[in-house]
Amino acid sequence: MNILILGSGGREHALAWAVKQNPKCDRLIVAPGNAGISMLAECADLEIMDAAAVVTFAEENAVDFVIVGPEAPLAAGVADALRAAGILTFGPSAEAARLEASKGFTKEICDAAKAPTAGYARFTDKSAATDYVRIQGAPIVVKADGLAAGKGVIVAMTVEEALAALDDMFGGEFGAAGAEVVIEEFMEGEEASLFVLCDGTNVLAVGTAQDHKRVGDGDTGPNTGGMGAYSPAPVLSDAVLEQAMDQIVRPTVAEMARRGTPFQGVLYAGLMIRDGQARLVEYNVRFGDPECQVLMMRLGAQAFDLIHACAEGRLGEMKVNWADDHALTVVMAAEGYPGAYAKGSQIRGLEELPEDSSHMVFHAGTAERDGSVIASGGRVLNVTARGTTLADARDEAYAMVDAIDWPGGFCRRDIGWRAL
Ligand code: AMP
Ligand code: GLY
Repeated sequence: MNILILGSGGREHALAWAVKQNPKCDRLIVAPGNAGISMLAECADLEIMDAAAVVTFAEENAVDFVIVGPEAPLAAGVADALRAAGILTFGPSAEAARLEASKGFTKEICDAAKAPTAGYARFTDKSAATDYVRIQGAPIVVKADGLAAGKGVIVAMTVEEALAALDDMFGGEFGAAGAEVVIEEFMEGEEASLFVLCDGTNVLAVGTAQDHKRVGDGDTGPNTGGMGAYSPAPVLSDAVLEQAMDQIVRPTVAEMARRGTPFQGVLYAGLMIRDGQARLVEYNVRFGDPECQVLMMRLGAQAFDLIHACAEGRLGEMKVNWADDHALTVVMAAEGYPGAYAKGSQIRGLEELPEDSSHMVFHAGTAERDGSVIASGGRVLNVTARGTTLADARDEAYAMVDAIDWPGGFCRRDIGWRAL
């Protein structure tokens, strides 16, 4: 089979790594890819937000199956265009991708599905939103409705912070994404992520993970795209997982189907768990990054069979073969991230690292220059290892981190601390 993966991050490197191990994969193309991906797949220079260009490319290259990595092309209808052209595609329609692209829409679906989530109100008018914040008090959570690259959520510990967030959002800081604002009850508890394949009708949980959103050790400093992750997430015990599937995921998938906009792809449920009960924080309509890296390391080649069956509507006949193990990934980022950072610093020592089913450095923002790997983004490497215990996985991952010679980079030293 000829397979095309869209994206260029650590998530797509991990997907490509898993897909490549499956004997059904003949030719693997990743667009646009990165320096690490180019070591195992063909990389193609393609504008992945341009649906027509993606369809033409897939037709010209006799692509049998497309896997869409990030949310932006999904929200822009790239999966719709591919399916309309008769090309098998993993990833939701633009309508179903609203579960990530509109926080107000997700709340509407939760109401219809009776899925437990934070209490909320939606506003398009600043003075009404201001009154609401003053009445509710703090802590309170202010969210831009649309996609804002992970920056559109302000967890305000004071009323002043919440009002400042409203100033920013209604002042146009987030563009069209902030034209509507959702204000939510602040939920306490422990966060974890649940990843569920959905073929429109059937659902299959493929793993749990915990991310580390803050840039600094001990969960301090500004929010990032994620500084490290591990799987499984112990807080998502079998009982909590079943409750989340029964009360949140299945009713959501049923409601989407009932509306004539079935969800096909991976539904990533961000959950807040307290007293053994999960409530929905948010949905994403794609694999998490870096959560995907630990999921792929644990699933290996079967990940492709699961994703392929999902796209073909055959999930009902699939089972996940769980290894009783743990995986952990440490994100190495360019000094300065998530603020301004320099590009172009050289990374040495990658060739000497082990590369097998339990050790892998997935590349995110890297490029190749004169035969060397250089940093070309904020989050740059995902140093990933698997172990029989989480502590083993962590020790293996940090041993690899310590063997990488990259003076321009940094990482958190405490990935996994919550579970350990
Ligand atoms: P989101 O982009 O919706 O994932 O929000 C980013 C982060 O903000 C989440 O991962 C949570 O840590 C936090 N957050 C969002 N909504 C709430 C809420 N209602 N209560 C507490 N924390 C929240
Ligand atoms: N790591 C968080 C996300 O992918 O949204």
